Amino acid sequence: MATFVFDDDITRDDFRELTRVYFDARAPAYNSPFHQRLADDLLRHYPPPPGGAVLDIAAGTGAVALGAAAMLSSAAASGARPGRVVAHDLSAGMLAVASAAAAAGGYAPIFRTVQGHAEDLGGLPDATYDAVYCCSALAYFVCVPAAVAAAARVTRGGGFVALQSFSGDSFVAGVAMAAAVRRVLGAAAGGRVFSLPLAATAGPAECVALLRGAGLERVRVVEVDLTRRVDAGELTAAYARLSPNSFCVRLNALDARTRAAVQAAYVGIIEGLRGADGCVEDRQLSFNVVGYKPRA
Ligand SMILES: C[S@@+](CC[C@H](N)C(=O)[O-])C[C@H]1O[C@@H](n2cnc3c(N)ncnc32)[C@H](O)[C@@H]1O
Repeated sequence: MATFVFDDDITRDDFRELTRVYFDARAPAYNSPFHQRLADDLLRHYPPPPGGAVLDIAAGTGAVALGAAAMLSSAAASGARPGRVVAHDLSAGMLAVASAAAAAGGYAPIFRTVQGHAEDLGGLPDATYDAVYCCSALAYFVCVPAAVAAAARVTRGGGFVALQSFSGDSFVAGVAMAAAVRRVLGAAAGGRVFSLPLAATAGPAECVALLRGAGLERVRVVEVDLTRRVDAGELTAAYARLSPNSFCVRLNALDARTRAAVQAAYVGIIEGLRGADGCVEDRQLSFNVVGYKPRA
């Protein structure tokens, strides 16, 4: 499955900058029950050890980081060491929301934010964290294997890296958008303009290979099926909501006539999927993946 194509027109740095700007703008209204559910699932499957050092990569507004801080604080109330949490992200806007929530929740003494790139985690020391999380973010990374290698680098021997991502065929709006672009521009040009960004975690086998490739062991995948039926009208409206996303940069650069043709093709695809109940199946297969760093 294809993924975003970088070249001289849109470099990796350009793409990260677009992503940063997108999430800075989205930060005040980002929080949602959907993202909280994903974070809660990841922490429930792989809780941080009491008193541990926790890193949340691409932490955003802190759904995982704040949940981990709450878990460490309740363990500390029963006598464990306080532990600590670092929320790391590209977007200062997202991290500002996380910091404010940490202060409001009383977690400020154990909570810190760091702005940077997931692909290198520059400035974060080797072999330091007992639990390293990344939830709902891999699709934005410009090199997923590099990010997982960086996560493994900062994990302490015996500690774990826990990732949440979706299968390659998840999110019907994105699948329909990719099909619409290919229908209008042809497979090769269309694939360059818009590709689904979930190739690195297309299925459980890809998830396992990703973590093993970073030297992690005892890799395990827990699948959570969040598939639902969505009103077709809501999916038609989702096209406009997807457009500001960094993945759509080349689509947005097409001329107005081609953009209109793609949008019309998208609506046609959604209408073709509409069932008698007026809804479309929106497959959402979430993978909660863990791998442990060998002790030296
Ligand atoms: C969909 S949000 C997920 C936030 C949070 N983990 C959650 O579960 O709600 C994706 C986050 O990834 C961050 N991000 C995207 N690309 C990144 C990169 N290359 N390095 C660091 N953070 C990145 C964005 O700034 C954004 O906060």
